[in-house]
Amino acid sequence: MDIAIIGSGYVGLVTGACFADVGHNVICVDNDEEKIKTLQAGRLPIYEPGLEEIVHRNVSAHRLHFSSSIREGVDKSHIIFIAVPTPPQPNGDVDLSFIEKVSREIADVLTDYRVIVDKSTVPVKTGERVAETIKRYNRHGAKFDVVSNPEFLREGCAIHDLMHPDRVVIGAQSQHAVDLMKKVYEPFMAPVLVTGINSAELIKHAANSFLALKISYINAISAICDASGADVDKVADGIGMDRRIGRQFLNAGIGYGGSCFPKDVAAFIHIGEQLGVPFTLLKEVQRINAGQKERFLKLIRDTLWVLREKKIAVWGLTFKPDTDDVRSSVAIELVDTMLREGAHVTVYDPKGMEKARELKAIADAKFAASALEAVDGAEALVIATEWNEFANVDLTALKRRMTTPIVFDGRNLLNPDTMGELGFHYHSIGRASIIPR
Ligand code: UGA
Repeated sequence: MDIAIIGSGYVGLVTGACFADVGHNVICVDNDEEKIKTLQAGRLPIYEPGLEEIVHRNVSAHRLHFSSSIREGVDKSHIIFIAVPTPPQPNGDVDLSFIEKVSREIADVLTDYRVIVDKSTVPVKTGERVAETIKRYNRHGAKFDVVSNPEFLREGCAIHDLMHPDRVVIGAQSQHAVDLMKKVYEPFMAPVLVTGINSAELIKHAANSFLALKISYINAISAICDASGADVDKVADGIGMDRRIGRQFLNAGIGYGGSCFPKDVAAFIHIGEQLGVPFTLLKEVQRINAGQKERFLKLIRDTLWVLREKKIAVWGLTFKPDTDDVRSSVAIELVDTMLREGAHVTVYDPKGMEKARELKAIADAKFAASALEAVDGAEALVIATEWNEFANVDLTALKRRMTTPIVFDGRNLLNPDTMGELGFHYHSIGRASIIPR
């Protein structure tokens, strides 16, 4: 199939690369000419494991192209995917101006039948507006179908998620469009769910909000574990072994972050309000999530007494491992708060340093060249992201390099028994603290 992807951000680029890799001809379009030049020169604007190799392979095979022209994309393709940002507005509403603009731009150059597929996360009923807009601005009276095809990939394992999806959701009104979409996804051999456009759009917000709810649920239980001496990891194992519940997304921690869950939960609350159906359960999900970070900060304050002038190392800046993304990262919020309270904070992250250096909120932090360098002379270590590198660190060297071996593990990454045996003061989430006698 000949496919255009409008928007070469995270979703657009990964989708385009994987579509090319299964044999489609793909043009990735973006209005950021610098980004297109970077991609044409063989460099990637984001870090995602495995992506660079796939991009290079398919550019060499002439199946993957980059362009700043929507006209070129629309002319050369049967199917046009829209994968532009849908950022939140301060009131929680979704900013759909990029979607609207791209719809007009497609309308402007549309002369023959095309399938226009929305891949961006959008509020229910957006597809209807896209169809109206294209119809209104298209001077050629060209026929087209609008499809909703939400994306469920996770950063850090995006290639795997795209190549082996649990399901492909196709929201469409015309059988012809459904048939074409099934051809696009045929090589992936995934279960396909065909729905109306509104249902497909709703599935995306409902799925992300449910996952966020699952995290808040276990985080609420972690607070009960802290108060009762139970172990949240064991509780998660115990409930997760019930296949109706499942163990995934039951890892307690400092709360969810990133560019999806916080935004999508807020958007879904707003969508409910606009439809006259308040989704109050999700407000509680947000409250628990924010409270989790506060509980962790309280643990740090209660232990260290005052943060002013304390040397604190922070491992992890990205919102989760295997990505360089620091957007809406709880780790960054923690560093920001500790800096405001007068601590001297030294940070280290395997991939997120470059993007973190651009953030004003943590401009006063010191950036170390390695995990162990970050803890040199530190009075406490905070683990904010569960990178493998931290799980495999030499714990004896860690203890030797710290002034006082106090560890606050916000991701339950390390083993409390091992930490206790080595003589650390070890605090984690929903598990008993280890204080050597
Ligand atoms: C999420 C969804 O998982 C994807 O299915 C979806 O496609 C994507 O949003 C999106 O809408 O584009 P992502 O934000 O990349 O993916 O990352 P997740 O792996 O879902 O993690 C989100 C946050 O939840 C992270 O901060 C992570 O640390 C936290 N988390 C996750 C927990 O605190 N506990 C868990 O058990 C799992």
